Amino acid sequence: MRSSILTLCFAAAVVLGGCSRDNAPAADTAAKPDANVATAAPAEYDSLSYAEPDKVRIKDLALALDVDFDAKEISGSATYDLDWVADDANELVLDTRDLTIEKVVGERSDEKWTDLKYELADADKRLGSKLTIQVPDRNQRVRVTYRTSPEASGLQWLTPAMTEGGKQPFMFSQSQQIHARSWVPLQDTPRVRFTYTAHVTSPKDVMVLMSADNDPKAERDGDYTFAMPQAIPSYLLAIAAGDLVFKPISDRSGVWAEPAMVAKATAEFADTEKMIEATEAMYGPYRWGRYDILVLPPSFPYGGMENPRLTFATPTVIVGDKSLVSLIAHELAHSWAGNLVTFSSPKDQWMNEGITSYVENRIIESLYGKDFAKMEAAIAQNELRKTIGDMEPQAQALAIRPDIHVKAGDTLTEVAYDKGAWFMMFLEHRFGREDFDPFLRGYFDHFAFQSIPTTTFIQYAKDNLLAKHPGKVTEAELDEWIYGQGIPESAPVTKSPQFDAVDTVCKAWLDDGTLPAGDATAKWSTQEWLHFLEGMPETLSHEQLAALDAAYKFTGTPNGEIAMRWYPLTVRSGYPEANDAIAAFLERVGRRKLIMPTYAELVKTPEGLAMAEKVLAQARPGYHPITTGSVDAVIAEAKGDKSVTKPVD
Ligand code: BES
Ligand code: ZN
Repeated sequence: MRSSILTLCFAAAVVLGGCSRDNAPAADTAAKPDANVATAAPAEYDSLSYAEPDKVRIKDLALALDVDFDAKEISGSATYDLDWVADDANELVLDTRDLTIEKVVGERSDEKWTDLKYELADADKRLGSKLTIQVPDRNQRVRVTYRTSPEASGLQWLTPAMTEGGKQPFMFSQSQQIHARSWVPLQDTPRVRFTYTAHVTSPKDVMVLMSADNDPKAERDGDYTFAMPQAIPSYLLAIAAGDLVFKPISDRSGVWAEPAMVAKATAEFADTEKMIEATEAMYGPYRWGRYDILVLPPSFPYGGMENPRLTFATPTVIVGDKSLVSLIAHELAHSWAGNLVTFSSPKDQWMNEGITSYVENRIIESLYGKDFAKMEAAIAQNELRKTIGDMEPQAQALAIRPDIHVKAGDTLTEVAYDKGAWFMMFLEHRFGREDFDPFLRGYFDHFAFQSIPTTTFIQYAKDNLLAKHPGKVTEAELDEWIYGQGIPESAPVTKSPQFDAVDTVCKAWLDDGTLPAGDATAKWSTQEWLHFLEGMPETLSHEQLAALDAAYKFTGTPNGEIAMRWYPLTVRSGYPEANDAIAAFLERVGRRKLIMPTYAELVKTPEGLAMAEKVLAQARPGYHPITTGSVDAVIAEAKGDKSVTKPVD
């Protein structure tokens, strides 16, 4: 149930070739099965950034920003504390996208600031504009004064009418993968980690939060200061502003949300403190101070985002029965896998998302028991099994070999999440928890606050797991899991007794139309319903759909996970009764994972395509640029329009 939509956003673009940077082409190059051709690319090459961290690195960032809702603009300055790594380096290259650069200055040893020459290159569609600053004196501090564009890809601006309360405007950032550069000029690569401070001004009645030391008691006065003393990669830089109030869960945890949402959200996420404690018991202390959750408007394009100290979460998981709180377990797990130990390039996405999905499942098991955790693991495994075969061969590998280049966002698939988690389960299964748990804990400690590639993980696993406990896993097996295609034979398949019961119900109904007596399904969890829907054939007859709808009221469900499985089935099968509810769902929710499967199904027929376009026209003003980009791309592809390129996730 994790990431089924991610496949839709995937275009296996593997770019082979020499060591020149692959900036120019906007069109994707199809992966070739024989893509493992060696090139001279450096192992840690990040093709999604112009930055040159081997020459100079940002150590600390000091932001002074103003949030202007009328202009839909953030303006101010970013001051960098620099570490000049290479002796001959005298240029600072930053990533930017749609930014207006107003001034660049460097601090001299007498503390005076003087102008520096800079050049903003023409924009590349995917990567943005390279900002090259001449720093002949290799100043310790450099400051860029800039403003964002109203179309910044990493920001969404909502009018008061688009919020729950309707009184204040709202804005929030989504920096992963490469959108931080659209609101702060940065070395926008996870290879660089920096601490930061910020002074942010805004309209007085708006609360501003960041991925930093938010004070639950902060006075709402339009003037806020933040500090993030732990070094983070750029994709974890985050900001949000709106009519936000706080409600505690524990001493170190709580919920920020609009006033109308905060009580409901706090009740849904009441187990957060227990989740933190369970994770600490397995993997060591939570190292980030507070762990708060910010509930965003339904247009938030993701389920959750692990912004340090302040997870951003979609309201679509607040369904009243805590059945979708694995989202919180997931984002919390990133506090170890991803935020503490970070991939050094997004092509190692599995190290963040896969290890996190494994830890998520361990947290869920610890809080809600083995049966519940098994259901979630089985859903993920089934999903992967269904989709992996259709992927480009290269995309089926957990990690891309160091000698191969990929383009932005292309590693964000079920493979990273579900095959990654499965790989961890395989290791757990072979070594046993008594040895695997301390290994993973040791890994988080050993590489804490570092950004590393897959090859470093492999070496660490060889030294600390394979060699220490010989005869359990071979290097060839490790290699197959990481670089091989498909699902390895050695994958331990998770069996769920609950799902066996659901399968029996499913089969009986498909065989002769018998739905079980109410009691059998009355206690089903969301997960059992999801498994039931996933057991349906490609299409159902109109009569069958109507029978299911009459019995279970799927059409109009408030549960997005159910909706994302039911609506595509109705579209494929031809069941116009669901169309109004589909339109309402697609207009209300902007979470890509939930809505893209339905759009993808709609665009397959001329009538569906017309409906998709109509719905999009209604929804567009309320969608996030990331969501709009994905929907536009699916519609353009269906129409054979090659001028719209797949956006960067
Ligand atoms: N870090 C991801 C979201 C992300 C990944 C954004 C890559 C952009 C690029 C986040 O932790 C995540 O995985 N969210 C999932 C949650 C789910 C797996 C529980 C989502 O949004 O669906
Ligand atoms: Zn994640």
